[in-house]
Amino acid sequence: MSDVTATSTAADYLVRAENVSRMYPDGHVTALVDVSLAVRRGQYTAIVGPSGGGKSTLLNLLGALDVPTSGRVLFEEQPLSATADLDRLRARKIGFVFQSFHLLPTLTALENVQIPMFEGPRLSASQRASKAGQLLVAVGLSHRATHLPKQMSVGERQRTAIARALANDPMLLLADEPTGNLDSQVGGEILDLFDRLHRDRSMTLIVITHSAEIARRAQQIITLRDGRIVSNESVADFLSDADATTVE
Ligand SMILES: Nc1ncnc2c1ncn2[C@@H]1O[C@H](COP(=O)(O)OP(=O)(O)O)[C@@H](O)[C@H]1O
Ligand SMILES: [Mg+2]
Repeated sequence: MSDVTATSTAADYLVRAENVSRMYPDGHVTALVDVSLAVRRGQYTAIVGPSGGGKSTLLNLLGALDVPTSGRVLFEEQPLSATADLDRLRARKIGFVFQSFHLLPTLTALENVQIPMFEGPRLSASQRASKAGQLLVAVGLSHRATHLPKQMSVGERQRTAIARALANDPMLLLADEPTGNLDSQVGGEILDLFDRLHRDRSMTLIVITHSAEIARRAQQIITLRDGRIVSNESVADFLSDADATTVE
């Protein structure tokens, strides 16, 4: 891999989890147990594993949407627990993409993409619209700018949601089963878009998936089961293991 260097320093890490556990007291559920991982800047990480394994819980902790019961999460090597304004950090540095898009139904694509900009660096109305237009071009949707979500295909809705996640030029893009509501062809187009973001914008990506297709495109694959990391592999290892297990 081209980005592997002989010495890896702390500054190379964008986000890290150290011995993170998360209990949901209401259900007496321990969703994560002693999870540690590190994601380097520009790295593409996939999180895989069975339903209920703790994938969404982990993503929410890495994205500062939730706080661990024990352990800590560091963003740019700063503990989130010591970060005064998590809303601001999240709004300006992290983009989220969800399985069910979460677009506002009464707003056009161009308007939906601008929503996070109200929490970001100050822009005029025309600057916001212009930037949203550029983002729609980047996701291949310039011809749908004035469409409402219901006037778009599911794939176009997810592209709009991805453009919205990029509104404030985040360093980190988190996606929770982004192709879960899409057929395999449309899902493949979304994955191609993630590949382009990773390649052309050096975007750091953490994507939860059931799809071997995504895992194949990632550089680090973390498998969670019952709240624990059961493997953390580089792609080369993962594919050779998969080959080994499919030998007849
Ligand atoms: N808000 C919550 N309150 C109580 N239990 C939860 C909550 N969210 C998730 N869980 C439980 O935590 C475990 C992990 O869930 P989750 O992180 O959503 O897994 P995954 O995304 O891998 O399917 C599951 O047992 C789930 O039922
Ligand atoms: Mg989940």
